[in-house]
Amino acid sequence: MHPQFWLDSWEREGSATSFHRQDIHPYVVKYADPEQLRGKRVLVPLCGKTNDLLWFAQHAEHVIGIELVDKAIHQFFEQNALPYTQTSDYRYESGPITMLHRDIFDVTLEDVGKIDLVYDRAALVALPLDLRLRYVSQIDSLLPAGAEQLVVTLEYAPVMAEPPFSIAPDETSAYYAARYHVEHIEQPERPDHRMIPKFGLSFLKEHAFRLTKLAQLMVA
Ligand SMILES: C[S@@+](CC[C@H](N)C(=O)[O-])C[C@H]1O[C@@H](n2cnc3c(N)ncnc32)[C@H](O)[C@@H]1O
Repeated sequence: MHPQFWLDSWEREGSATSFHRQDIHPYVVKYADPEQLRGKRVLVPLCGKTNDLLWFAQHAEHVIGIELVDKAIHQFFEQNALPYTQTSDYRYESGPITMLHRDIFDVTLEDVGKIDLVYDRAALVALPLDLRLRYVSQIDSLLPAGAEQLVVTLEYAPVMAEPPFSIAPDETSAYYAARYHVEHIEQPERPDHRMIPKFGLSFLKEHAFRLTKLAQLMVA
C-alpha cells in the first residue's frame, strides 16, 4: 500500500479508520498474560493508535509502537492523556511506551533493541502480498530465537483488493513455517463483525497464531 493511502485514511478518519477499537482486543486479554509479560519488551508494528499498547505498557517492561502516520501517534497520546516527549526526529517517549514515527521497512535493531514479543493485529492483513512478504522478513530480522509473535488475521469472502486483505490460515502458516513454530490458536466465525454489512461479506473469521522463533540451523 502506498503511504499516501494511510495518510489519506487518517485524514478522513470515520469509516476509513474503523479498524480502531475502543477496547483491548480479546485475544490480547486471553493470550498476553500479565504474568508472562513481566520483564518483556513488546513490539507493535503498524500500531495506529491502538489501545492494546496500554495493556502492554501496564504489564510488560516496555512497548514500542511503529506507525507511519504522525496523526495517529499524537491522537494516541492525547486521547489517553499521556504526557510525552519527542527525543529524536521520529521517537516519542511516555514512560514504558515508545512510539516510532517510521515506515516499518526503515526500522533497525538499534531502533527497537531486544524484542521478546511482537503483537500484530491488522498489520499483516494491511499489506498487499509483495509488501506482506517483505514485512514478514523485516520483522524476522528484528527478532532473536525464542521470541514470540501473536498474529491476528482476517479471512472472509468475497475477497477485496484493499485492506484489510483476506488471508487463509494456510497462507499465514506458510509465511512463517520455515523459521517459526506455528500454532493456530483461534479461528472463530464472527457473524456480528462490522465488516460483514459494510462490505456485504458472506462470512468472516478472525484467526490468531502464536509463533515462536526457532534457533538458526547450523550448516556443517
Ligand atoms: C489496519 S491499521 C491497524 C492499526 C492497529 N494495529 C490496530 O489494531 O488498530 C494499519 C496501520 O498501519 C499503518 N501503516 C501502514 N503501512 C505502514 C508502514 N509501512 N510502516 C508503519 N506503519 C504503517 C497505518 O497508518 C495504519 O495506522
